[in-house]
Amino acid sequence: MKEPIIIGNWKMNMIIPDALKLITGIKNKLSGKHDAEVVISPSFTVLNSAHIALADSNIKLAAQNVSFADKGAYTGEVSAKMLVDVGCEYVIIGHSERRQYFHESNKDCNKKIAVCLEEGLTPIYCVGETLAERDAHKTLDVMELQLREGLTGFKVHDIENLVIAYEPVWAIGTGRSAESKDAESVHGFIREICASMFGGVVADKLRIIYGGSVTDENIQSIMKEKNINGVLVGGASLVLEKFTKIVKYNEE
Ligand code: 13P
Repeated sequence: MKEPIIIGNWKMNMIIPDALKLITGIKNKLSGKHDAEVVISPSFTVLNSAHIALADSNIKLAAQNVSFADKGAYTGEVSAKMLVDVGCEYVIIGHSERRQYFHESNKDCNKKIAVCLEEGLTPIYCVGETLAERDAHKTLDVMELQLREGLTGFKVHDIENLVIAYEPVWAIGTGRSAESKDAESVHGFIREICASMFGGVVADKLRIIYGGSVTDENIQSIMKEKNINGVLVGGASLVLEKFTKIVKYNEE
C-alpha cells in the first residue's frame, strides 16, 4: 500500500489572490515531514497560478472535472491534455455534486476516467449513496453499480494507481460524518468488488479514501480504519489550520 493520500477539494471557492494566500500558508505549515501525500484541488481558473506557487513543494494538484472529449468543438469544456499542461496530476471524477447538478452518470465517469488514463492523469473516482438509498438499505448495491459501470473496460495496469473516494452524499457538507466503522465496512466492500473485477493483488493496493464532513477533530478515528487510505476534504480544506492539522493527523 502506498502512503495515505489527503486531498483538499476546494469546490467553487477561492479566486487567485485568496488561493495563493492559502497555498503559502499550507506550504509553510507542511514544510516538515508528514506521513501523507497531499493534493489540493482548486477551480480551473486557479490551477496555473497554483502550479507555479507549488513548484518548490511536494504538494500536488488535482482538477475537479475533465471533459470526456480530447479536443475540438466542445465549448466550455477542459480536456485532460489541458490539465496536464497546467500541472495537474490528479482529476476528481464523478463527485456527487456533478452527478446531482450536472447529471453525470457512471457511463460519463467511465469515459472521463479513460481520457485521464490516456494522458497519464490519475483519476479520483467518487462513489457514494444518497440518504434515500441508505435508508432503503441500498448502499452496497449502489456502490457495486457505480464501480462496475464506472470502471468497466479497464485493465489491471490502468487502475493500479486509481484512487476511489467513498463519499456518502448525506455526509457531504452536513457536518454529519459517517461513523468510521460504517465507512470501514463500505470501504471493505469496495475493495471486494474491485478484487472481483481486477484481482486481489491490485485491489489490495488501491487507495480507497473517505469524504464527507472530515474535520481536524474526526480525522484520527477515520484514519485508524484498515481500509481507509486517506480522505477527501471539502469545507475544512479551505481553512489553513484545519487542513494542515488533518494532514498531520498522525503527529498528535
Ligand atoms: P465536506 O468535507 O465539506 O463535507 O465535503 C466533502 C466533499 O465533498 C469532498 O469532495
